[in-house]
Amino acid sequence: MKKIFLIVSIALTALIFPNFSMGELLNLSTPKTSLVLDASVGEPLKILYYGDKIKEADVDNLKVSPLLNHQAYPAYGIYPQNEAALSLTHADGNRTTVLEVTGVEKEVKDGAEITTVKMKDKFYPVEVKVNYRVRPGYDVIETWVDIVNNKENNITLNRFMSGYLPIRYGDVWLSSLYGNWGNETRLTQEPLTHGVKMIKNKDGVRNAQTSHPEVMFSLDGQPRENEGRVIGAALCYPGNYKLFIDTDASNHHHFFAGINEENSEYHLKAGETFTTPELALTYSEEGLSGASRNFHKWGRDNRLHAGDKERKILLNSWEGVYLKVNEDVMAGMMEDIAKMGGELFVMDDGWFGDKYKRNVDNSSLGDWIVDTNKLPNGIGGLLKEAKKNGISFGIWIEPEMANTISELYEKHPEYIVKADNRDIATGRGGTQIVLDMSNPAVQDIVFEVVDTLLTSYPEIDYIKWDANAPIMEHGSQYLSKDNQSHLFIDYHKGLTKTLERIRAAHPEVTIQACASGGGRASWGLLPWFDEFWTSDNTDALQRIYMQWGTSYFYPAIAMASHISASPNHQTSRRIPIKFRADVAMSGRLGLEMQPKDMNESDRAVCEQAIADYKKIRPIVQFGDLYRLQSPYDKKGVASLMYVTPDKDDAVFFWWKTETFVNQQVPRIPMAGLNPDKIYRITELNRIDRTPLPFEGKEYSGKFLISNGLEIPLTHNAPAGQNSDFASRVLRVTEVK
Ligand code: GLA
Repeated sequence: MKKIFLIVSIALTALIFPNFSMGELLNLSTPKTSLVLDASVGEPLKILYYGDKIKEADVDNLKVSPLLNHQAYPAYGIYPQNEAALSLTHADGNRTTVLEVTGVEKEVKDGAEITTVKMKDKFYPVEVKVNYRVRPGYDVIETWVDIVNNKENNITLNRFMSGYLPIRYGDVWLSSLYGNWGNETRLTQEPLTHGVKMIKNKDGVRNAQTSHPEVMFSLDGQPRENEGRVIGAALCYPGNYKLFIDTDASNHHHFFAGINEENSEYHLKAGETFTTPELALTYSEEGLSGASRNFHKWGRDNRLHAGDKERKILLNSWEGVYLKVNEDVMAGMMEDIAKMGGELFVMDDGWFGDKYKRNVDNSSLGDWIVDTNKLPNGIGGLLKEAKKNGISFGIWIEPEMANTISELYEKHPEYIVKADNRDIATGRGGTQIVLDMSNPAVQDIVFEVVDTLLTSYPEIDYIKWDANAPIMEHGSQYLSKDNQSHLFIDYHKGLTKTLERIRAAHPEVTIQACASGGGRASWGLLPWFDEFWTSDNTDALQRIYMQWGTSYFYPAIAMASHISASPNHQTSRRIPIKFRADVAMSGRLGLEMQPKDMNESDRAVCEQAIADYKKIRPIVQFGDLYRLQSPYDKKGVASLMYVTPDKDDAVFFWWKTETFVNQQVPRIPMAGLNPDKIYRITELNRIDRTPLPFEGKEYSGKFLISNGLEIPLTHNAPAGQNSDFASRVLRVTEVK
């Protein structure tokens, strides 16, 4: 009995090393955070601390009294009761891995410092390199792992997480995103209790439609936006993922994040290396918004394609005409958006198909040839029209997909994802199928389709790259029988390789990641994409909730947000144009409607919004986000603001989320301003007949931060423009 107890207690504490050895301490520090590791040779790598930046003296104390003291990359096998980041089966069937540090290497690459802790198995010729990247000026540390099979015949990777982090038990709350089509990025906040909380994706293609591979941990109880200690984690991967937190009987929550290994065991031949995706970690003492700002700044400058380039105001044709694309209608839309002050027109689905025309959504994907019935003068004709109107032109394409009704599929049935001896599983229209991106021939085709389009028409400024299906059966006609389990991973290896080639040839074009709406809002793709379509749901009220969730991890510059028609096509809700514009302006502004259907006064409000957005675009797209009042708190109002890094200019957004007579809503104190500066308030997108009482007035930053402004709950608008919706956009500019 005693023996069993001993074994169980050893097992439970196996991740912990009370006999701490004094070895090489690595203190990886960013401007405001520190990650301290013990990389003593001959021992497993240990993590001692992650949090607020600490002084050398405190680092020294960690040697004798570490706050964490867990293996930094626990491997499976010895005390198999514990969750592990790595699990592999050696060629001889041994399922245990025992790692010890052999050395540490540091290199500076593209201005970032990369620390690599090299470990090897004590017996088998397997090497594991745990990498940490610190970029000067950013409070984010990226970690990833290389698993190297030096000599063994064949090893099987059963689990291969990007990273592991122990988080001290306490009143820790998890913030994560969950949703569905038309309702993406809903925020969920919950306390972490004993057991396992798992967030995972197995879609195969789109990995952001339901859950998201990003989380935040509030360490001081119920999450707060602008106070409290927060750890944030974002897995930068476009494919299937698994994040889980195992809260056991120890003093720690064990957080793991990486590729989802389910049905994806990976075989590594002698000499091969498997590199995991990166896990970005951040820490902030300025609440959830602080962690978001860290991700936004890091992502805009280092991960988002062209993150320093202002995005154009566009009109997308989808909700305006759906598949009924034709030359006259496109020309009319271009003329309208140009007149309204827009800068780009994007022709959505419906423009292609030769043998099979894309008139309904059940054919022609893969046949990227202009339908000359609809567009007699082709893309060239449309580009001329765009030029005439002084705007840029963009086009929709769904390159990873085909339909069973397509010339591509007729010629190359072997190119699609399909299991042997099974019927074809199809998606949209009953005919949509997925091309097998693990196949190099398919990668070439996808590259050529995009490359030919952009080389033939170099004036194309923008591509909306869609992906509207999951992998619907586990089978690759390209991969060997033994490597069928590689499909989900090799699909994304193939996709990113192709995107790499496309970007090398076409660095300038703007590319939007769309996938049945927000299915590809992913840091795993943004190195090649400039933005994502946030959701197919453009209802402004619901967008407040979705965009709020999105903003936890993604900057406004990447979040496409369009003004659409009323009644809304997804919810049938009637929302006045002012409110629709005020919500869309808090992201990358665009329009998603037929401008011809707008009445004069709506059009005027829209034009005003476009003009005003041009003024605040740098603040929204490059500023620091402060979320002030969450719509999820159900206080009747939601509010956030963007502030320039110099704190000399800001935009304050305020939206009423429900309306009752004599309702009480809180006044919203501002944040992020300099308390010592003086700011002038100007209303943007004004529809009221009389200015707000504080219009043009000057206030100290201190006053605005402590009190905020008393905002009227209704508009005093011309007849017909009052409704149950109210919103305000205020510019808060330093008086110099
Ligand atoms: C997806 C996208 C939409 C639109 C359609 C076109 O649903 O999310 O925005 O492009 O495809 O078929």
